[in-house]
Amino acid sequence: MGRRRYAIVGAGARARMFARALAVDHADRAELVAFADVNPVRMEAHNRWLKELGAPPAAMWTPAELADHLAAGDVDTLLVTSVDRTHDEYIVMGLTAGVDVITEKPMTTDVERCRRILAAADGSAGRVTVTFNYRYNPLHEKVRELLAANAIGQVGSVHFEWLLDVRHGADYFRRWHRDKADSGGLLVHKATHHFDLVNWWLGARPDVVYASGMLFFYGENGARHGYDHGYERAHGAAAAADDPFALELAASPELRQLYLDAERMDGYYRDRSVFAPGVTIEDDLSVLVRYDTGARMTYHLTAYAPWEGYRVAFNGSKGRLELDVVENDHVSPAGAREVKGAQLHGEAAAAESGGYSITVRPFWEPPRQVTVSGHSRQGHGGADVRMTHVLFGDGAGLHQPDALGRAATERDGAASLMVGLAGNESIRTGAPVRVSDLLEI
Ligand SMILES: NC(=O)c1ccc[n+]([C@@H]2O[C@H](COP(=O)([O-])OP(=O)(O)OC[C@H]3O[C@@H](n4cnc5c(N)ncnc54)[C@H](O)[C@@H]3O)[C@@H](O)[C@H]2O)c1
Repeated sequence: MGRRRYAIVGAGARARMFARALAVDHADRAELVAFADVNPVRMEAHNRWLKELGAPPAAMWTPAELADHLAAGDVDTLLVTSVDRTHDEYIVMGLTAGVDVITEKPMTTDVERCRRILAAADGSAGRVTVTFNYRYNPLHEKVRELLAANAIGQVGSVHFEWLLDVRHGADYFRRWHRDKADSGGLLVHKATHHFDLVNWWLGARPDVVYASGMLFFYGENGARHGYDHGYERAHGAAAAADDPFALELAASPELRQLYLDAERMDGYYRDRSVFAPGVTIEDDLSVLVRYDTGARMTYHLTAYAPWEGYRVAFNGSKGRLELDVVENDHVSPAGAREVKGAQLHGEAAAAESGGYSITVRPFWEPPRQVTVSGHSRQGHGGADVRMTHVLFGDGAGLHQPDALGRAATERDGAASLMVGLAGNESIRTGAPVRVSDLLEI
């Protein structure tokens, strides 16, 4: 059997992980045929990195060339890692050409786009996979196993809090994510992971959503809280020098090549002040969800926390299950100005620490701790490597039966998205929103 031919559309930061997985780790089964992007400078950077890894370069296509090559049958699977707002265009393009599509989360950013994707999937021989990598985190797999094994009986309610720290959380306020039209806001862009996990853990679909959100910390609130340094973008701004929220593009070879060197082509500034005007997303969000199983969830997302991690508690008919994860216990000053995960070296890396606990608390018994192997602090708790192994590796297990049901389809993509989109609608109107009033999933 020949190797499967892949094209990656959207040659930004996230594409690097996939390019390596295809062109290096799984090169025996996969061929990275091309990158496609509106910005050639970023595609050139990716090809330099492939060269450093000893892999051959990929072709560099414009979006129009991508459409032609898909129609000509030159690609078997299209991988979508572009800006969220553009996902639907490429998912539909791939499906119309009859090829499989693997798309980054969120599947898309609004109800109309979601409807178009579902319709295109229904009429295509191609299949859609949404890369909900968090399903492949060993801690999350364990929670799924415990719930499926009835460790706490039927789940009545879920209490879920997610904290993004002032490095990672801040990063959504520097560039395109800060505009709801580009990202759908954090209930869509970020919480789609969390809402997917709950759908998957409970085997449930959302029914009614009520949400409330505000921009409390970033944007023009920075002046009120005493953080605004009065510059638009960090590069070339003297005022950014002592701002712990400033991102220094020139200090990181990756950021320089992907963004600073590329910005003359499209005016994409990666390093805007998180306190500069123009933010249309929220940084503090509360959501109440009722599911079709009868379960309820209270959810909170904070994007300006001193530590990063999450707490999930499931209240069941036979006890309670608690998952506590500390991804970073604080943001060290040396690492504050770097992008999360990408550049932490030496003391900064050592200073921050993480950990987890999974506790099952059955009624009338002492609590028991559950340990998990394979969890790491790299690539979303070790999830990225495990997911790409399933996506591209042995037996291309993508559409193979999976005991944990980890592969997510466009219906799963829509089900998670609809919690966020119904939440956005609820924030707008102040009223609870029935998901089926927006879209049948
Ligand atoms: N699953 C995860 O854990 C995870 C982590 C990071 C990013 N992501 C997702 O990956 C995607 C990319 O994020 P990123 O951080 O790499 O962003 P990025 O800004 O670094 O890259 C986006 C790329 O899309 C390109 N692009 C913009 N408009 C386009 C168009 N019309 N056609 C083709 N390309 C276009 C840009 O030029 C850029 O190269 C997002 O959807 C994000 O949600 C997922």
